[in-house]
Amino acid sequence: MLQNPSSKYRPFPPVQFAERQWPNRVITAPPIWMSTDLRDGNQALFEPMNAEHKLRLFKTLCEIGFKEIEVAFPSASQTDFDFVRRLIEEQRIPDDVSIEVLSHAREPLIRRTVESLKGARRAIVHIVNATSKPFRELVLAMSKAEVLELAVSAVRLVKQLAADHPETEWVLEYSLETFTATELDFAVEICDAVSAAWGATPGNKIILNLPSSVEVTTPNVYADQIEWMHRHIARRDSVILSVHPHNDRGTAVAAAELAVMAGADRVEGCLFGNGERTGNVDIVTLALNLYTQGIAPGLDFSDIDAVARTFEQCTQLPIHPRHPYVGDLVFTAFSGSHQDAIKKGFAAQQPDSAWNVPYLPFDPADLGRSYDSVIRINSQSGKGGIAHLLESQYGVVLPRRLQVEFSGVVQQHTDNHGGEISAAELWRLFSRTYLDTVNPVRYVEHHLFEHGSGQGLRLTLEINGAVHPLAGEGNGPIDAAVHALQSVITNFKVRDYQEHAMSRNADARACAFIAMTQADDHREYYGVGIDTNIVTASIKALVSGINRLAISAG
Ligand code: KIV
Ligand code: ZN
Repeated sequence: MLQNPSSKYRPFPPVQFAERQWPNRVITAPPIWMSTDLRDGNQALFEPMNAEHKLRLFKTLCEIGFKEIEVAFPSASQTDFDFVRRLIEEQRIPDDVSIEVLSHAREPLIRRTVESLKGARRAIVHIVNATSKPFRELVLAMSKAEVLELAVSAVRLVKQLAADHPETEWVLEYSLETFTATELDFAVEICDAVSAAWGATPGNKIILNLPSSVEVTTPNVYADQIEWMHRHIARRDSVILSVHPHNDRGTAVAAAELAVMAGADRVEGCLFGNGERTGNVDIVTLALNLYTQGIAPGLDFSDIDAVARTFEQCTQLPIHPRHPYVGDLVFTAFSGSHQDAIKKGFAAQQPDSAWNVPYLPFDPADLGRSYDSVIRINSQSGKGGIAHLLESQYGVVLPRRLQVEFSGVVQQHTDNHGGEISAAELWRLFSRTYLDTVNPVRYVEHHLFEHGSGQGLRLTLEINGAVHPLAGEGNGPIDAAVHALQSVITNFKVRDYQEHAMSRNADARACAFIAMTQADDHREYYGVGIDTNIVTASIKALVSGINRLAISAG
């Protein structure tokens, strides 16, 4: 039994602010977005991203359309310092993108931070110190005056160092860490002192960031705090008011939305809500929530599955299958009555009219996704009937997105042939769809060998009846096979790869799954290969995927 909480926890006091206007406002334009995936997000990973993964995610963030990206905490690690140098020296930053770096408000750290930015075209230096009473007393042992002086002298130092590098356009961001637990009059005093020290003007705005470093209130209280600051800070026309909600109470998205209604100009967060503890606010959800209200968010998620796979590969974090917009199951209906309503909605939907499909608040096609109805095979097979039968009877554990894809195949089969489908029939259908495909490509044989630091592959395929001896090299067998195949078939991309052993006895076979797309089509199709040799299984999966793509292209 949970103990009575009233003796242990105190409710957060509301803001006495009857003049609040935010409840009457609606959002009509997107805020400035700032991605902190490579800083706050990266700091929160079991294993921080290596340079290659950071570069890959940086490129993806630029492609999505972020114009401000916090890329590192350069004074905290050599890896982060080197990453900033690499971005600048290898000229990897698009002209319309500003990189941002974080530093605590301490002299040596600020010097090192500014040093990391040498040669940048435009840079946002992000200075942070904690300001709340518990931090002042418990962690910093500083008075209010000392905390204020810490912030102001840090800003003066950035200004002085920046003046030595006029080739860079410098922007200052100042964050009051633990803002939501800071007395509002003190928060405003610090903000005003800092913006005066920076010399903020309408042409040289300062970013004042008011994080909910730990989410401790309902979103309306955060909105009150933001609107109070919005109305009380000096030089409002010289300030970009920014928010940085964390998700400890699970309401970061609501907090960010209400904060924008309350006057915030800018939102910091991470893709899919990565970040410390329960994460930073999920910028994907925020942006697509705007989109469903008819507001262009300025971020492009028209191939959201590609973003999701890159995110998962770089962070090693899986996305929950029911995560809004992106989860594998969010456009999947299991219930018969839902399927029926959705089908009717699709049939009635006119191409030019407002979206109005029951149970689907959003057109999956806008994200490069499709609606799937998942059928249950029979009452005994329980949850995920198809997947359950294939696993329990044939040892094949389908990845979730393949479950959804194959479910559509089964649906078509039962629509055409009627009635239920037996386990043996299901296996025949699975084999016919994925394992036995030979058109237009049939696997013949391969030979794998070491090649420098990677691997080389000689691969023989039959394509449209003609034998093709191919060769490829790569950092592993699959990479080498993809390169070999791309010498004759160019129009495909590999999205994801998984494999598992099918049984534990001596003649165990392996099952490989490869998710693929065509270059000009975001829809994903799976190829599957089974063999006693894992490399052969993988190559067969690749060939099966190519054949699936060919069938889908008609
Ligand atoms: O959560 C927080 O307060 C932060 C600051 C560095 C902005 O991450
Ligand atoms: Zn944070």
